[in-house]
Amino acid sequence: MKQTEFFGEGSITQLKQLLYDMGAKRIFLVTGKNSFEKSGAKATMNDLLNELTVKRYEVISECPDLEFIKAGMNDLRLAECDAVVAVGGGNVIDTAKAVNFFSSQSITPEECIRSVSNNKGKGLPLVAIPTTSGSGSEATHFAVVYSGDVKHSLAAESILPDVAIVDPELTYSLSPYQTAVSGIDVFCQAIESAWATGSNDESRKYSRESLTLIMRSFISAVKMSSAESRRDMSLASNIAGKAINISKTTAPHAVSYSMTRMFGIPHGQAVCITLGEFLKFNYEVNSADCNDSRGEAHVKCTIEEIFKLTGSSDVNDCMEKIKSLIRSAGLKTNLRDLGIDSTDKLELIARSTNAERLSNNPRKITQEVLLEILKNVY
Ligand SMILES: [Fe+2]
Repeated sequence: MKQTEFFGEGSITQLKQLLYDMGAKRIFLVTGKNSFEKSGAKATMNDLLNELTVKRYEVISECPDLEFIKAGMNDLRLAECDAVVAVGGGNVIDTAKAVNFFSSQSITPEECIRSVSNNKGKGLPLVAIPTTSGSGSEATHFAVVYSGDVKHSLAAESILPDVAIVDPELTYSLSPYQTAVSGIDVFCQAIESAWATGSNDESRKYSRESLTLIMRSFISAVKMSSAESRRDMSLASNIAGKAINISKTTAPHAVSYSMTRMFGIPHGQAVCITLGEFLKFNYEVNSADCNDSRGEAHVKCTIEEIFKLTGSSDVNDCMEKIKSLIRSAGLKTNLRDLGIDSTDKLELIARSTNAERLSNNPRKITQEVLLEILKNVY
């Protein structure tokens, strides 16, 4: 499916013409609790929204939760809208994607989660407008959905938003912490995409471009943000989204989901904590445990490219560089500082990580390895 994209300061003003071209008069507007106002999106969209019939749906859950998504489906049905506009971070955009996608299916969301590959329905036209430079969700055909503590990843071509409007000005009001925690997710997504077994030439090009922008502007966006650094990070986030849209993410993401769901650790913080350890682990890949059909030399080569892009001389230096980037952004580098303070909790995280989802990692991972890696960052 082809997506229409708008990028740049003030690009949110394109929305009016877009909705007009779509013939949309009744809008299902999915937003966060505060980010819609705080980002300036509401003020910019006010006149436009006054001309339309708008049903606003506020995402109050911390993660895209199935029960909450089902309530959204009910609201969408009752409101009889003709387009969905999502304005917010990854959670908001994923929720909007899931509400819209499930609503277009002839089976229940639960059945859908079990057999998503059989589902072909296309929801209403969806416009995604990120207010963080983080998830890249506006550029992917996936949506994360939690049912209880279980994380599901919906994947279907029709989930990709029809339109993405990436306006860096909407990220200007992010606090240093929000910038750090969303930006470090971009960093991890760019790196994981590079070594993912699902990568190809196109995704690696995106991953390289994204990583270059992050190395140039992440810390300055956190510490003394400027229009340039915000622009770089918005672009980096969108490009890393395009990279993982092809390659998917790998082990650091897989292991992070239970940290977020069970211990409330923000997504970017949870993902980055094991990144350095997995870099080392993956670099030590050999022919017996290589998951990538292109072989271990290919995997090593992609990781050496990460060394180059991060200005590192070797694997240990790169691990240090990753740690120092995380620290400079004001984030934590070990689990104990995040309240994961016993080996029982480490074991729980390792057990709760879906082994199937680790298959995109370039080196095979056992439960023992996973626990060892968690102990190394304890
Ligand atoms: Fe992520």
